[in-house]
Amino acid sequence: MKTSSIHGMWSSRLAFVLAATGSAVGLGNIWRFPYITSENGGGAFVLVYLICIALVGLPVMFSEIVIGRRGRMSPVNSMRELADDVGASRAWMGLGFLGILAGFLILSFYSVVAGWTLHYGFLYLKELFGGAGITDPNATFGALLANAGELTFWHGVFMVMTVGVVALGVEKGLERAVGILMPVLFVLLLILLLYGVSTGHFMDAVAFMFKPDWSQVSGGMIVTAMGQAFFTLSLGMCAIMTYGAYLPSHVHVPKVGTAVALSDTAVALIAGLAIFPVIIAFGIDPGSGGAGLIFTSLPLAFAEMPFGIAYGMAFFLLLSVAAWTSAISLMEPAVAYLVESTNLSRKSAALTVAVLGWLAGLASVFSFNIWSEVSVGGKSVMDAIEFLAADIMLPIGGLLTAIFAGWVLSKTITREELDDKMHDWAFKGWLWLTRIVTPLLILVVMAGILGVF
Ligand code: PFF
Ligand code: NA
Repeated sequence: MKTSSIHGMWSSRLAFVLAATGSAVGLGNIWRFPYITSENGGGAFVLVYLICIALVGLPVMFSEIVIGRRGRMSPVNSMRELADDVGASRAWMGLGFLGILAGFLILSFYSVVAGWTLHYGFLYLKELFGGAGITDPNATFGALLANAGELTFWHGVFMVMTVGVVALGVEKGLERAVGILMPVLFVLLLILLLYGVSTGHFMDAVAFMFKPDWSQVSGGMIVTAMGQAFFTLSLGMCAIMTYGAYLPSHVHVPKVGTAVALSDTAVALIAGLAIFPVIIAFGIDPGSGGAGLIFTSLPLAFAEMPFGIAYGMAFFLLLSVAAWTSAISLMEPAVAYLVESTNLSRKSAALTVAVLGWLAGLASVFSFNIWSEVSVGGKSVMDAIEFLAADIMLPIGGLLTAIFAGWVLSKTITREELDDKMHDWAFKGWLWLTRIVTPLLILVVMAGILGVF
């Protein structure tokens, strides 16, 4: 059993929890969760999402950490080593490649949206110093999307920030950034929650988010809910597996895995409870959806709140930081693989992935202007990339991860990695979920995509 990785190690259990939480908590919670909850009609969607977190997310989270820590390499090579150990086919390396590709696709549009949040942070910063305010949020957002140059610039700024940290390696910088800034973002969300309560529409938001309207349930909605469960927890693309490779041997996997999943879910729900009252209070239809949801609604609240301009600046800049710690983990699997398998240094590998990711992101940039007429199966280019990566590739990656951890790895190995003193019932429970329940649920939902029902 290897006790360390060539890429470095987390200095402590807390460091891993912070890094993995930094990976999980991001645009998925504060931008994507509200907007797709809105598009899918609220309550029923949230319920299906929570079920997916518990029955699919958690078992896959444990599986990824177990595989990563056992293999101690990039996903491709960890899979090769473990497959060799148990005499399985090396074709399992394909899971690592699939993860790298999914991460790359996600990084491409993620960086564009993170660019929007940077742009908004700077709009408020300028306003603090006397610049023009956002008086018509729809117009401001529309103007941003129409401006390919502006979008490309901020997408580039974000990619440079990301590559900077990845080039330095996992432990430096990252641990500290996450440890200080994430709690501040959480406090800002709580302040917005209080503002939401003060609008008098908090209970309407609770009803929208938690009162299921069963007529909203459809194959497509369930696919989206499962995709979001994977996306928000950073699962299905070997990112958590890669972070697991740097996890010290003594750390208790079920504890840290559960902590990460719970914090991520809490942030998403609090974000929803903070944002929907504002949406409703300003007369916006909570079901109106769209990727611009938080950018066109929150500025209305910031214009009214005491210290709203400073608050708006802090909110969007910290959201960029949350996106930053996630984007780092989107790059890490590819970078670790390149470092292991080529002569590239960590710096050159990171730069390569960033440049390619930036170029690929131009497709998402153009989908709002030059290519706004282009439709891929009824979706805009960015929506299509989001759908392919989050709703299709992540669940397939998660399915393979669960099958590998549940059926291919020996029980001795998984038990040793999870906790050798674990109660029998707890281990059997994890095994049963990972072997049967999780794969079956993913398969049924995937069948929904193929239109089986
Ligand atoms: N979990 C991140 C979020 O919710 O914003 C996005 C993400 C990061 C997805 C890393 C996948 C991943 F591997
Ligand atoms: Na998330």
